[in-house]
Amino acid sequence: MQELRKGLYFVGARDPELKVFDVIVPTDTGTTYNAYLLRGEKTALIETCHDRFAADLEKNIEEICPLSDIDYIIADHTEPDHSGALHTILDANPDVTVYGSAPALKNLKNILNRDLNSVVAKQGGELDLGGFTLKFFSAPNLHWPDSIFTYCEELRCVFTCDFLGCHYCAETDDGLIADDSRYLAELERYYTYIFGPFPAAVKKGLSIIRSLDVSLICPSHGPVLTKGIERVCEVYDRMSEDKTDKDLISVFYVSAYGYTAAMAEALAEGAREAGKNVSVYEITGTEKSVLAKAVQTSGAYMFGSPTLNRDALPPVYDLLNNVSAVLDRNKPALIFGSFGWSGEACGNLAARAAGLGLAVDEELCKVCFKPSEEDLAHLREKGKAFAEKV
Ligand SMILES: Cc1cc2nc3c(=O)[nH]c(=O)nc-3n(C[C@H](O)[C@H](O)[C@H](O)COP(=O)(O)O)c2cc1C
Ligand SMILES: [Fe+2]
Ligand SMILES: [Fe+2]
Repeated sequence: MQELRKGLYFVGARDPELKVFDVIVPTDTGTTYNAYLLRGEKTALIETCHDRFAADLEKNIEEICPLSDIDYIIADHTEPDHSGALHTILDANPDVTVYGSAPALKNLKNILNRDLNSVVAKQGGELDLGGFTLKFFSAPNLHWPDSIFTYCEELRCVFTCDFLGCHYCAETDDGLIADDSRYLAELERYYTYIFGPFPAAVKKGLSIIRSLDVSLICPSHGPVLTKGIERVCEVYDRMSEDKTDKDLISVFYVSAYGYTAAMAEALAEGAREAGKNVSVYEITGTEKSVLAKAVQTSGAYMFGSPTLNRDALPPVYDLLNNVSAVLDRNKPALIFGSFGWSGEACGNLAARAAGLGLAVDEELCKVCFKPSEEDLAHLREKGKAFAEKV
């Protein structure tokens, strides 16, 4: 427990041992699940924490007041790392009223599987605690449809849940940033995993923050920000810029005997004739980060694989895992590959690409074994026509 401002307490939990969050996010310094108690005439708990740390939350609150004193719980976002311990509070205090967006309250119904008193926290809505007033701002897709920000004017403080947070658990209990470059690296990493798919929502979120008079940012992971707020917003500005170059086409392929490789070069040559900037990548010989960046920045793609044992090869599927079904939606994609007798690779890759929301060219460019001069001429034409449409 820590008093941040008069009447505002940090009651969250530290998890320094955590190595991975949400299955895929590395957390080298662990994380924190921040929750805040705000005491006016009425008492509000802002966020709870991961179920595993419910006892810590309870203990921290009870250093200030009994759980039965809590009048309101504000759920800015309902992912179970912030709502998992809610049932503990409800067990002790079933009369508490939960404030959240309409989607948040719907989520809580399915997360808690029990009845609760609730009020929709509408855009611009307020909750008077007596001495402190909380004001709600809708912030959808930061990073779930349920997200809101809660602002306390008297304290010039905004509670942003995951927004502007990061998995950085300070070495000491005071929550201070001990290693600034590590903190910034974690902030960027958190952004990439959590907010990367939602740049437009991020820009709206930043404009809300900048429209408020703020001296304290209380996110729900990592340090509370009393200074350097604009610096952190600038990281979000930079990272939410649109990185797509509409004139860039990337060609990705693998090839055992060079036949699919020859197809890749012919398609690329044609696309260059159409005036596009074209990069060709043999997937297995290219560093993963280079491939990921190419996927992110390209305006259109070509994917090639020979057929082996009735399918495309795993490196091409792995590469496709870099395509974002949110951000890369509707980017044009052309599928190609050499085959021997059955030729399933192209159809299967096309299905995966379409499943990711790419606009897959209806012509699958398939060649039986080695492309002839005639095949190559057709591929150059096809590459040009595809690029002209991009
Ligand atoms: C282990 C192995 C399995 C193969 N299985 C298939 C197959 O199931 N269907 C097919 O059409 N071709 C199959 N082929 C043939 C290749 O698709 C064909 O050799 C193709 O031209 C290779 O192109 P590349 O030089 O780009 O690798 C197979 C080839 C190998 C080496
Ligand atoms: Fe979240
Ligand atoms: Fe979170």
